Amino acid sequence: EKAKQQSLTDVLARAADFYKAQLRKSPRAVAYLKGRGLTGQIAARFGLGYAPEGWRSLASGFPSYDDPQLVESGLVITPDVEPGEDAKRYDRFRDRVMFPIRNVQGEVIGFGGRVLDKGEPKYLNSPETPVFHKGRELYGLYEARTGLRQRGYALVVEGYMDVVALAQHGFDNAVATLGTACTADHVHKLFRFTESVVFSFDGDAAGRRAAVRALEAALPHATETRTVRFLFLPPEHDPDSYVRDLGAEAFERCVEGAVPLSRQLYTVASEGCDLGTPEGRARMLKQAHPLWSLLPEGLLRRQLLGDLARQGQMAEVELQALWLGEPAAAA
Ligand code: CTP
Ligand code: MN
Ligand code: MN
Ligand code: MN
Ligand code: MN
Repeated sequence: EKAKQQSLTDVLARAADFYKAQLRKSPRAVAYLKGRGLTGQIAARFGLGYAPEGWRSLASGFPSYDDPQLVESGLVITPDVEPGEDAKRYDRFRDRVMFPIRNVQGEVIGFGGRVLDKGEPKYLNSPETPVFHKGRELYGLYEARTGLRQRGYALVVEGYMDVVALAQHGFDNAVATLGTACTADHVHKLFRFTESVVFSFDGDAAGRRAAVRALEAALPHATETRTVRFLFLPPEHDPDSYVRDLGAEAFERCVEGAVPLSRQLYTVASEGCDLGTPEGRARMLKQAHPLWSLLPEGLLRRQLLGDLARQGQMAEVELQALWLGEPAAAA
């Protein structure tokens, strides 16, 4: 099993080298990356590459294109064929900028590929393989290890380009989930490298929905020492466009203004509630309860209970009785 995984990561490492070499040969792909504000240095740091046009470009890098490991690694697709029919294999990634995804050991375990112009889908990712599990990996984590220590916090963003553009502007502490929602697994993994996580979402409606799921993913790991904050960009921006248009200092101020998890919990719980009425405050507390319950035992959990009681204009002992099952203090 270990040997098999090793040979898959070997194939993927060779593919990453192949794509890197192809990038140097493609003025069009280089121009695309330059057009997005990236230097060769940052491209090299992230091992960016280019998958050429054509159905079997990988054959020039892999003499035995029939190697089943090319299929198992997700680089080559075999259409379902009737027995006896010639299986026409072809490259999964064609005419795309390639972002190698590394595990924390630095091994390439998969790729994300972006179209250069318009085209669907905009991003194509490696499929799940024995070495690549989307729900667990964070793009950029390997590259960010030093930055996480130096800056003291992690930025969690939505996209590959956000990670790379932030690094280009000096934020070498950004990671992205791979086109999936942020999970408690992701947060757990991050807290092995840092004590502080700042979620930064696109300012659009999808970004705001993602923030609710991130809150749920973060709550089980949030304590008085492991802090989580939420940064919201203007609706027309993502971290990439923001840092390019407004600069690193402006983004730094956004990070400073990120709201703490407690406030985000309150915001999410208050959604659709008129806090000027007892009904609205009761509903807020009802919506807050399942979120608050996700917090681990400890000071932050107790502190938030008191805070929510005040926001809901309810005696703290009453809320304790309801949420902790502790008897209200004798009158
Ligand atoms: N994504 C994906 N498949 C898509 C679209 C998006 O897997 N068809 C994932 C990618 O990981 C992408 C992230 O979702 O990086 C965020 O999507 P989006 O905001 O649309 O892309 P950007 O990263 O902003 O891409 P770009 O700036 O290159 O347009
Ligand atoms: Mn988006
Ligand atoms: Mn985006
Ligand atoms: Mn977008
Ligand atoms: Mn973008």
